[in-house]
Amino acid sequence: MKLTRLTLFATLVLASLATQLPGAGPETVWLSSLDLSPIVQGWGQAQADKAVTGKPLAIGGKKFERGLGTHTDSLVRLRLNGGAERFSAMVGVDDAAGNDHATISFRVIGDGKVLWRTTGMKLGAAARKVDVDVKGVKMLLLIADSRGDISYGHADWADAKLLVTGARPVIAGPPQEDAIILTPKPPRTPRINGARIFGVHPGHPCLFTIPATGDRPMTFAADHLPMGLTVDAQTGQIQGRIEKPGTYAVTLRAANSLGKAKRKLRIVCGETLALTPHMGWNSWYVWENHVTDKIMRDAADAMVSSGMINHGYQYVNIDDCWSVKPGANDTSLGGELRDAQGMVNANPRFPDMKDLTDYIHSKGLKAGIYTSPGPLTCAGHVGAYQHEEQDARRFAEWGYDFLKYDWCSYGRIAPKPSLAQMQEPYRLMGSILRRQDRDLVLNLCQYGMGDVWKWGKEVGGHSWRTAGDLGGSFYGIPGALFRDGFDVYAQKELHKYGGPGAWNDPDYLLLGYLSNWKGATALTPLTPNEQYSHVSLWCLVAAPLIFSGDITRLDDFTLSLLSNDEVIDVDQDPLGKPGRRMAIDGELEVWARDLEDGSMAVGLFNRGEEPATVTARWCDLGLKGGRTVRDLWRQQDLGRFNGEFKALVPRHGVALVRLAPARAKVLAAPKFAEGLP
Ligand code: GAL
Repeated sequence: MKLTRLTLFATLVLASLATQLPGAGPETVWLSSLDLSPIVQGWGQAQADKAVTGKPLAIGGKKFERGLGTHTDSLVRLRLNGGAERFSAMVGVDDAAGNDHATISFRVIGDGKVLWRTTGMKLGAAARKVDVDVKGVKMLLLIADSRGDISYGHADWADAKLLVTGARPVIAGPPQEDAIILTPKPPRTPRINGARIFGVHPGHPCLFTIPATGDRPMTFAADHLPMGLTVDAQTGQIQGRIEKPGTYAVTLRAANSLGKAKRKLRIVCGETLALTPHMGWNSWYVWENHVTDKIMRDAADAMVSSGMINHGYQYVNIDDCWSVKPGANDTSLGGELRDAQGMVNANPRFPDMKDLTDYIHSKGLKAGIYTSPGPLTCAGHVGAYQHEEQDARRFAEWGYDFLKYDWCSYGRIAPKPSLAQMQEPYRLMGSILRRQDRDLVLNLCQYGMGDVWKWGKEVGGHSWRTAGDLGGSFYGIPGALFRDGFDVYAQKELHKYGGPGAWNDPDYLLLGYLSNWKGATALTPLTPNEQYSHVSLWCLVAAPLIFSGDITRLDDFTLSLLSNDEVIDVDQDPLGKPGRRMAIDGELEVWARDLEDGSMAVGLFNRGEEPATVTARWCDLGLKGGRTVRDLWRQQDLGRFNGEFKALVPRHGVALVRLAPARAKVLAAPKFAEGLP
């Protein structure tokens, strides 16, 4: 009996202990025990119990057994679902970072609220302790960033742990968003789109295809064309040569069975090309070193069949890997580097360059090519070093209209270049190109060295890359977009330098299918909202719109991003004044650009991890009085506003609007425009 009682008592105690166990006291969950693969970061991969370098975690001389080793800009999204009590860690720059270049900020954000932050952490500084209450928090974000420059941003969350009472936490990937198409379909009636101003050198061949949407067949005409130019009524291609310098006001016309349209075009015959940023396609980010003649012809075909040509896209540009690769085992890359006259040869993947550019031109498009001032290109193919004159002549003879000139192995010629040495190869090529008998646009690619924006125009460039490769690492693209786009442009005040004839170039539009650098293609890692931000920012800063995804495989969403004529109008605005950041409030930024007609394009960006209301205040924009506001992605008027305009903007998204002076008196109170992208 006694025994039975005792047994019963013991059973009850055990049973009650068993039911209590999960809530009996918080369990410690080390972050490094979770699946770290969804962590997004600017370089490399997040490491468990190691620094990003793979070495033991160490901050300020102190070693740690456990924790996460990340690289800025990094984002750890912890789904807690209210099941945790505390989060704690020791944060700092890892001792193996190599040098003290990086200055890192660490933030802990719970359901959109900053719970803890520290800024200005440098190599060698002692770890700082974070220990915060996370009761009830559903989503906890750990962010380490070194805004503007991620080099050596080895950010450690040492000893990172959660005290958990409920479900085990999970590291989540970026939120899934629906790819919602905002761009309305163009009307079936004719509409003329794209640039309103166009530059050409006197006496040089001219090609301008009237970009027009609407049902085909369509016929074209142009009134008051300068002497020497004619328009093809069927294709809309304007061709010929203008001998006499001057500005010619032309009226373009398009007609189909449903209606007609006209638009003014200024043709400026003089010294300046690229009066608006270049629009086109480049092979690099999808085809990298597999590019061939067929790929280029298919791209030209797709530029027409996708309708991109009707929105103003014109350049079809080969990037690296068309010339011979010394020492290549692959015979399709081999052959004589140059002919008997020292003129550069294409490799066997490009059997007839002249025939290729003829093909591209026959579609009403222009052709671009690539080389390096060094002996070799970045991918190890023949460059132009000591053959600059011959190679430029060859490009002109082949019929090219555009040259990207990529520093690459010129670093061997000028290892620690002075400013003059940095400029020298570009100045040389600029002057040689100007002496050719056709117009060649020169794109400088040297990643922003020596503040190229201050002198790129003077050496003959029509655009210059402002930073490294935006898509150098596939999963790094979202971070690079913010860093090399927003941060570089704001910090270096790049709006002061670009303008008609010479543009800042933050690199290509990384949309659609891109190379994943592992032999396959994959859809851009940018979320739909990030893609809206990407295109909107490029248009606001007057960047070239060069798409570098697979143009032969355009899904509807990607095409809608590339073909919104009101958005493109911002980029191609004839005033050519690049926009800039006008206001910043934490992660919310307002960018604006003055337009020729007196209106202003404004981007309300949310760089934060949660939806937020972004406010564009007239006082920040230098405006007074009423403005009509038009949503450019949706192509819809939103009404009249006075003093400010607000929009609820999703994570990493944008609302892009155009503010025009309102004629009538404004009575309406500021309205809250909800549900913008
Ligand atoms: C890089 C350049 C890229 C691409 C590549 C080709 O230096 O920035 O845009 O051209 O070389 O190898």
